[in-house]
Amino acid sequence: MIDLSDVHLELESRAGKVHILKGIDFQVASGTSTSLVGASGSGKSSLLAIIGGIEKATRGSVRVDGVELTDCDEDELALFRRERVGIIFQSFHLIPTMTAIENVALPLELAGGARASERARERLAELGLADRLTHYPGQLSGGEQQRVALARALVNDPILLLADEPTGNLDSRTGAQIVELLFSAQRARSTTLLLVTHDATLADLCDTKAVMTDGRLDAAPAEPADMRSERATADAS
Ligand SMILES: Nc1ncnc2c1ncn2[C@@H]1O[C@H](COP(=O)(O)OP(=O)(O)OP(=O)(O)O)[C@@H](O)[C@H]1O
Ligand SMILES: [Mg+2]
Repeated sequence: MIDLSDVHLELESRAGKVHILKGIDFQVASGTSTSLVGASGSGKSSLLAIIGGIEKATRGSVRVDGVELTDCDEDELALFRRERVGIIFQSFHLIPTMTAIENVALPLELAGGARASERARERLAELGLADRLTHYPGQLSGGEQQRVALARALVNDPILLLADEPTGNLDSRTGAQIVELLFSAQRARSTTLLLVTHDATLADLCDTKAVMTDGRLDAAPAEPADMRSERATADAS
């Protein structure tokens, strides 16, 4: 499903080039769940952005569902995202001037799909929000907003679901509800799930776990923070 080989990401910043991903090899089997853990700044969100076709790798091969993303132009990447990927962000990323149902219907409308409102309503009802359809994000609790975001991520029936700290802004009980909904949606549709989290319990619920350390991936436990900063200093010099 996901097959990355020697993937590098370098971005320009004011301070010069930043080498964010440093040779990632990563395979995820179809229909499985994988957690991605690691220190802040280690490159987890960047890796998700590459797999979701939001960011382009500087070097290496990124195959997702048989598509080589490094060969795609912007239009092809947009189509890939629309048809195959659902993304849930830590901070919900809902559009404040649109109601819950409008937010969820939006990806379908952008794709020119039929029955956008109807399908949005179904998804929201499945997630227990049938009586919140016309609420604006500002009128919803954090947990409700994240359920709207989950409904939006699922509305195009993605084969790949990317979740970047989906419980990061929620209290533990609400977070647990979101996790429950996320996994049941994943299982019901045999979606491939890639989940970034700082929560060890949540990470352990996934079939496999990958650890990111300073732009590199391995299956070994994360090394202590003091060693990491030592190496970062060595890398920079
Ligand atoms: N557009 C950008 N330009 C330059 N550097 C960037 C850019 N985006 C991210 N970075 C840098 O890349 C590194 C990895 O960032 P990333 O957001 O992938 O980390 P992360 O593991 O998701 O961290 P967190 O757990 O805090 O969300 C960081 O050092 C960050 O400062
Ligand atoms: Mg991040």
